[in-house]
Amino acid sequence: MIEDWQQANRAWWDEAAPLHATGDFYDLKGFLAGRDDIRPFEPGELGPVDGLTLCHLQCHIGTDTLSWARRGARVTGLDFSDPAIETARHLAVDSGLEADFVCADVYDAPTALGGRTFDIVYTGIGALTWLPDLARWAGLVADLLRPGGVLYLVEVHPTVNGLDGDGKTIVEDTIAAPFRAWEDPDRTGTYAAPEAEMVNTTAYERNWALSEVVTAVLGAGLHLELLGEQEVTNVPLPWLERGPDGLYRIKPGSPRYPLTYSLRARKSG
Ligand SMILES: C[S@@+](CC[C@H](N)C(=O)[O-])C[C@H]1O[C@@H](n2cnc3c(N)ncnc32)[C@H](O)[C@@H]1O
Repeated sequence: MIEDWQQANRAWWDEAAPLHATGDFYDLKGFLAGRDDIRPFEPGELGPVDGLTLCHLQCHIGTDTLSWARRGARVTGLDFSDPAIETARHLAVDSGLEADFVCADVYDAPTALGGRTFDIVYTGIGALTWLPDLARWAGLVADLLRPGGVLYLVEVHPTVNGLDGDGKTIVEDTIAAPFRAWEDPDRTGTYAAPEAEMVNTTAYERNWALSEVVTAVLGAGLHLELLGEQEVTNVPLPWLERGPDGLYRIKPGSPRYPLTYSLRARKSG
């Protein structure tokens, strides 16, 4: 087990990223053929991005970042995994899109991005659970925003993160969860490559409650403009049903709970 969370998580993601670059989940061929990975509710909540600068924190292999570029945003993606950033750079070239991809830890983002500020900081869908300190994260998000700029966050709902594979039983903390090492003795791959046998089997994560996220954002001096909860997700959880739009929902007849949430917060300007 690797004791240092940054080292363990980077090793895990460095192994995961190449699997994701070649797998069906991220389907990079489909992306190159024009697929848009932005969830349908996002453009309406964020507003027009054409011509605006957008910094995507924890951008992974760049599919969401470049989807915003297709909508006219001038994008910069940041992630601490070298293979993820390499894939994102190739994807930008292959899709003929302008994008800047930077390899750095999210906590070093303001320095790694040379003190630049952005109209939009975008992040989410499996990003926040990897971070041990949200107050510090929210502070650096505020530093990355120009006066009047917005944070737009779209995340997997903490309820979903707490559920067992049956979609009904809460088996993990959904509030005040510890940031801790998770060991996978079965080496059962990743959410996007479940069949892969992983060499790195330790990852440090925690679930963040909605109140903890909102408190961090307000604590950084940002003004909350929107908090949404959605009945759809792009994550193929086993108890959900895939719709014709490619998104997953709770099956008809079962009680509904939110699968995703979104938050928009603005820096004073
Ligand atoms: C689940 S992925 C995000 C996926 C993204 N929303 C997408 O769909 O493409 C999480 C990403 O966070 C990155 N990450 C985790 N901890 C990080 C950290 N401390 N600094 C920078 N990137 C980090 C990982 O390398 C990985 O690419």
